[in-house]
Amino acid sequence: MAEFSQLDAGGRLRHLLSLDGLDADLIRELLDRAGTWCCRPGELPPRSRDLQGWTIANLFAEPSTRTRASFELAALRLGADAINLDVMLSSRVKGESVLDTIYTLQAMQVDVFVIRDAEPGLPEYVARHVEGHVSVISGGEAHLSHPTQGLLDALTILQAKGGFRDLVVTIVGDIRHSRVARSAASVLTTLATGELRLVAPAELMPEPDEFPTAVRCESFDAGIAHADVVMMLRIQKERIAATSQPDPDRYHERYGLSAARLRRARPDAIVMHPGPMNRGVEICSDVADGPQSVIRQQVANGVAVRMAVLAHIAAARNARTL
Ligand code: CP
Repeated sequence: MAEFSQLDAGGRLRHLLSLDGLDADLIRELLDRAGTWCCRPGELPPRSRDLQGWTIANLFAEPSTRTRASFELAALRLGADAINLDVMLSSRVKGESVLDTIYTLQAMQVDVFVIRDAEPGLPEYVARHVEGHVSVISGGEAHLSHPTQGLLDALTILQAKGGFRDLVVTIVGDIRHSRVARSAASVLTTLATGELRLVAPAELMPEPDEFPTAVRCESFDAGIAHADVVMMLRIQKERIAATSQPDPDRYHERYGLSAARLRRARPDAIVMHPGPMNRGVEICSDVADGPQSVIRQQVANGVAVRMAVLAHIAAARNARTL
């Protein structure tokens, strides 16, 4: 099969399927642009007409609260129309193929498909088949990739810490099954983050050839020591056989983030979690809601980042058609 690029001939995003291979300049441009769409709680959110006349379709075949809602809000705040197709209630369950679903919506003038699916490769497969003016954004691909989550995590770290070079970032939890961890590692590596640590029980560690630059720790107490950023992940039960799932109480004892454990990190460390959280399993409520938590800021940044990606894709298409 011919090699596929998510970039156009000008090096701009035609699609966004993965953060792998994107250079630091493009990532910084997206983060800078997202920064202009951020607002404080209670302020009227910024709006523009960058996507006036466009139609965005969310096609989610796995559950989502944050990603789906924020893509819809991002589209609306940029002046686009937005539709949400619950794939499990669509004609796909009557046997319609993925491509027939795409062609059907393309006939209704959809310009951007945001796709979340448990099947690896689906976003690229769709991207290979859409018309030349249509773009595909991954809203989460199996355990492999969640690019806009990686960008919003980077933006949140940048806002809190001002840069990446001197940071110790510790990712804790079910890293083996986590697309969030893979996209975070990708963007943090590109942005030359000081040190990336992975903390997980052996059965939830990724394969040895993945995360090549990260330091691996089975001990949470060792992995969190002097960390600047602590990123907690839930156990991805939907990707683990019922018989192999960790016992929640035992897991919490070894890998749950409590206030006492957080004191081992730097005093100004931030606590992140992509959501959804399982309180009392991977994170205690007093930490999730505490002063070091930036979890709600991550959510707010999700809208800004998705606006930035959509606006970039629209500007790139406009530049191609000039
Ligand atoms: N972080 C994230 O992807 O959350 P949702 O599954 O709610 O979209």
